[in-house]
Amino acid sequence: MADREKDSAAAAKGRLPRTLEWVGGSDGHLRMLDQTRLPTELLMRDCRSAEEVWQAIRELCVRGAPAIGVAAAYGLCLGTREHRGLSPTEFREKVRSVGEYLCSSRPTAVNLAWAVARVIDRMPRVEDVGSEAAWDAMLAEAHAILAEDAECCRRIGLAGAHLIPDGGGVLTHCNAGALATAAYGTALSLMYAAHEQGRRFRVYADETRPLLQGARLTAYELSASGIDVTVICDSAAASLMRAGRIQVVVVGADRIAANGDVANKIGTYSVAVAAWHHNIPLYVAAPRSTFDLGLASGALIPIEERPEAEVRSGLGRTTVAAGAGCWNPAFDVTPAELVAGIVTEKGLLEPVTEPIIRRFFG
Ligand code: MRU
Repeated sequence: MADREKDSAAAAKGRLPRTLEWVGGSDGHLRMLDQTRLPTELLMRDCRSAEEVWQAIRELCVRGAPAIGVAAAYGLCLGTREHRGLSPTEFREKVRSVGEYLCSSRPTAVNLAWAVARVIDRMPRVEDVGSEAAWDAMLAEAHAILAEDAECCRRIGLAGAHLIPDGGGVLTHCNAGALATAAYGTALSLMYAAHEQGRRFRVYADETRPLLQGARLTAYELSASGIDVTVICDSAAASLMRAGRIQVVVVGADRIAANGDVANKIGTYSVAVAAWHHNIPLYVAAPRSTFDLGLASGALIPIEERPEAEVRSGLGRTTVAAGAGCWNPAFDVTPAELVAGIVTEKGLLEPVTEPIIRRFFG
């Protein structure tokens, strides 16, 4: 076994580094686990500028809706730190433009824009406190977003653990785990909590083409926690359901519209259709920050299209015939009627309808 693979195997036995953290004080930087290298290499990547954070988000070094929100909040601090000498008006304008720039890194997960807006909205008036103190408050807000995300995820897990059947099979798609959040994850948090409560079950992780977040990340973190996980090709999910081996499907979300339509990793919709056909409940696990109540339906959610090269190559070589085109949407929308319930930090929201969602968060 190569050294890097040994490191990775050791980490998979319970020494998972943090997904992302701020290192140091006001002159510090953002450190993240480079998720593009997992599962075979355990490498940390340091970001010291908004541009480096933008790139890390775009390249999926840090990915998953809540995690990119946290990263962007810190990116906003990094991108404005050296501008603390500007006048209040200029400093505020700088904060706004860096925020807008960070939001352009990935369009679908609303947590990113939500976190940037939160840091900006809660910044004290620069005219009153000066740009130094305003910037310190921005950093404190980014720390608060990180800490609250971990707490929300923990609550989501506890609120939904009962949905994981003892002795049953659970299907998940992509990675909505600790690697996608500040800690615990959303969908996987239910599994961590159920496991802690002594329930035993098998997780089937869709490999999640084209970037294999299920095979590389979900399988990695679940096995690190001693949870029984089996990776399947995405195309195997429906026949596994037909064979009676899946009792529940749990996935995360990147944005949930006011009517309950859910954008999540491409392929989630196919899983939902298959689950519906086999009468298997599909639950979405997501914090309040993933809801976009300003959007009437999922049809309005912007869907990121990624480079076709991600589809064209696999297994370290070209896998698509020359001359063929490739289409690579990163997300799809699952209509609310296919979702049995949404597990949030406030509890289980069901049935998934606009009035219930609005009352739940009212
Ligand atoms: O492209 P990715 O890896 O960022 O996609 C991530 C997902 O689709 C997750 O399921 C979603 O962000 C929820 S993470 C708690």
